[in-house]
Amino acid sequence: MKKRFLLYLLPLGLLTACGGGDETADNSDNSPAAQSMIEDDAPADPKGIGEIKHVELNSPLDADLIAKGSAIYDLKCSACHKLTGMRVVGPGWKGVTDRRTPEWIMNMTLNVDVMLDEDPAAQALLKECLVRMPNQNLTEEDARSILEFMLKNDGKS
Ligand code: HEC
Repeated sequence: MKKRFLLYLLPLGLLTACGGGDETADNSDNSPAAQSMIEDDAPADPKGIGEIKHVELNSPLDADLIAKGSAIYDLKCSACHKLTGMRVVGPGWKGVTDRRTPEWIMNMTLNVDVMLDEDPAAQALLKECLVRMPNQNLTEEDARSILEFMLKNDGKS
């Protein structure tokens, strides 16, 4: 019996190709031509696409919401998102509440399929990450609690 198969041809490249902050910058997408192609489109809505049109932020942050968001994160998000800037399958969450509006984050969480198909910022992430984030079937309250947890993770109070 010959067992000379190559069993370990893992696509390791996928693990390193997602999100910003890579020192080996491949700037091919930043060419003037690519930039103007993006800018020719209708201006992107910073709130993203979906049911969430306005989020009222809590000041101070709501401890119960944070705890709930943290539990959902552990269960449904942590396999792909770290709380640091480190990317795994998806971008690390450090700074996400500075990069994105609260509405965009919740629309990305609740309406990810449409966001990946139509929102330019989400599409840009998909192009880098090469994996479609799955819809996690969360309720609006679930998504709101994760946002609270993200704000806490970004040092907001
Ligand atoms: C199977 C992996 C996976 C899981 C699980 C996952 N995501 Fe994602 N997420 C991604 C990927 C990959 C991206 C980048 C966009 C793309 O390629 O689809 C992303 C992008 C995001 C972004 C945008 C981040 C940024 O920097 O702008 C948010 C917000 C987000 N996910 C929230 C969540 C939440 C909330 C959960 C859990 C309820 C979750 N994700 C679970 C893979 C995942």
